[in-house]
Amino acid sequence: MAALRAFKSAENSGAEIPDVVCFEKQDDWGGQWNFTWRTGTDGYGEPVHSSMYRNLWSNGPKEALEFAEYTFDEHFNRPISSYPPREVLWDYINGRAQQSEVKDLVRFAHVVRRVEFDDQRRKFTVTVDDLRNHVTEVRVFDQVIVSTGHFSFPNVPDITGIESFPGEVIHAHEFRGAERFAGQRLLLVGGSYSAEDIGIQSHKMGARHVTMSYRSGPQGFAWPDGVDEKPQIERIDGSVATFVDGSSGEFDAVVLCTGYLHHYPFLPDSLHLRSPNNLYPNDLYRGVTWNANPQLHYLGAQDQWFTFNMFDAQAWFVRDLILGRVELPDADARASHMRQWSDRYQAVADDAAAVRFQADYIRDLIEQTDYPMFDLDEVVRIFLEWKADKKQNILTYRDQAYRSVMTGTMAVVHHTRWIDELDDSRERYLDAQTTADSVS
Ligand SMILES: Cc1cc2nc3c(=O)[nH]c(=O)nc-3n(C[C@H](O)[C@H](O)[C@H](O)COP(=O)(O)OP(=O)(O)OC[C@H]3O[C@@H](n4cnc5c(N)ncnc54)[C@H](O)[C@@H]3O)c2cc1C
Ligand SMILES: NC(=O)c1ccc[n+]([C@@H]2O[C@H](COP(=O)([O-])OP(=O)(O)OC[C@H]3O[C@@H](n4cnc5c(N)ncnc54)[C@H](OP(=O)(O)O)[C@@H]3O)[C@@H](O)[C@H]2O)c1
Repeated sequence: MAALRAFKSAENSGAEIPDVVCFEKQDDWGGQWNFTWRTGTDGYGEPVHSSMYRNLWSNGPKEALEFAEYTFDEHFNRPISSYPPREVLWDYINGRAQQSEVKDLVRFAHVVRRVEFDDQRRKFTVTVDDLRNHVTEVRVFDQVIVSTGHFSFPNVPDITGIESFPGEVIHAHEFRGAERFAGQRLLLVGGSYSAEDIGIQSHKMGARHVTMSYRSGPQGFAWPDGVDEKPQIERIDGSVATFVDGSSGEFDAVVLCTGYLHHYPFLPDSLHLRSPNNLYPNDLYRGVTWNANPQLHYLGAQDQWFTFNMFDAQAWFVRDLILGRVELPDADARASHMRQWSDRYQAVADDAAAVRFQADYIRDLIEQTDYPMFDLDEVVRIFLEWKADKKQNILTYRDQAYRSVMTGTMAVVHHTRWIDELDDSRERYLDAQTTADSVS
């Protein structure tokens, strides 16, 4: 959606743009934000894409992800709170894409099966299945932008004895809501955002007890009663998990919050990004362009503090590379640039440095395009305050409000505290009767 908007924006300002076509395997756009109740396979028999669930609220302040050229004020015409639920964020990204009239460039229910590169002709051959009409199309393109995300193919580790566990074992990708865990003792494997959010969701929805098992280190929040952290699981015997510190516990259900694989089943090895979920994946010049073949680009392939506005910065940069507005250095210069940033990334020692690294990365991209520069240092500050809010109270951080760096508008406090809010619909969220005044 960012790439489509980027090309449209150039066209609107008089540039000649190439023919652009977007293949989307689902019936609608929005990617992760396009919620489905389904797990496993979708209505077309394709792997379900979204990993989102009922009652998913933004886990970072919206002021950190706001588009610089389509603000929340412009979309909602009034201040809203800093942590909207999924439906409201979908509405925002959909509103921007609708406004730029790019929907006719998208071929919905078209799944990309194969992308091949012909070295002689320097062209891509793309094989696409039209899922509704059962027609296979083969098209030729000069450039390919991979925007398929990297939080859809579960990373599923083996755990000794897990096959003896009598309860249900799922991956976070299949989690659709915490209501089902009411009264249960839940074991979450992993120590990052999915474990944290599914953990406190389950607590909110009445789980009897939640244990999160970390690999690298504890998340270290002041968990409420009934939620705790343990180190790695040594083994599972029936319903009992034993942890490497010798402690053990009995559980009713297990959710593997063990992250995702960068997996692009439509790409051959020579074009396939392989990376852990980090801030500077190898092989991508400026974090987007496949160095071994700069006609191929990836958007959003890195781990994400910044999201929507980073995708924009990347999309504008890739657009300008394709339009020839930004010069593509030769392979050696690209490799040296990548080394510099990779070394810088290796020196990142903590979360604050990681946020600053990603802010600098975005600044570097925006400086080369006409995407509106915004106060990235202020967004870094917001992220650090957000982290402090979470440290202070993991159950109330979503009740805090921030000021937009794009418009200066102060967010309102949501009419209901997050812990008490059981309705995540757009209607309920925007209910004027219950919306509190701006706290500015
Ligand atoms: C559980 C969860 C919660 C999150 N919460 C937040 C949050 O609170 N705030 C935030 O800022 N970010 C959040 N994120 C991060 C999220 O990844 C980004 O916000 C954003 O959705 C990434 O956009 P994307 O376009 O890169 O990928 P996606 O949103 O994953 O979209 C990729 C699209 O590619 C399509 N596709 C995939 N394969 C094919 C194919 N072969 N052919 C055709 N189409 C294909 C998919 O159908 C999908 O529409 C969350 C992520 C997850 C997993
Ligand atoms: N809006 C929301 O509330 C919300 C909710 C959920 C997720 N999200 C988003 O979803 C994205 C993905 O988050 P994520 O937490 O699923 O993935 P992630 O951030 O990549 O974290 C994966 C976790 O799994 C652990 N892990 C991996 N292999 C393991 C193994 N073999 N044994 C034990 N632990 C293992 C990792 O441990 P190490 O640290 O040791 O590597 C890490 O803690 C993020 O962008 C996040 O913001 C948002």
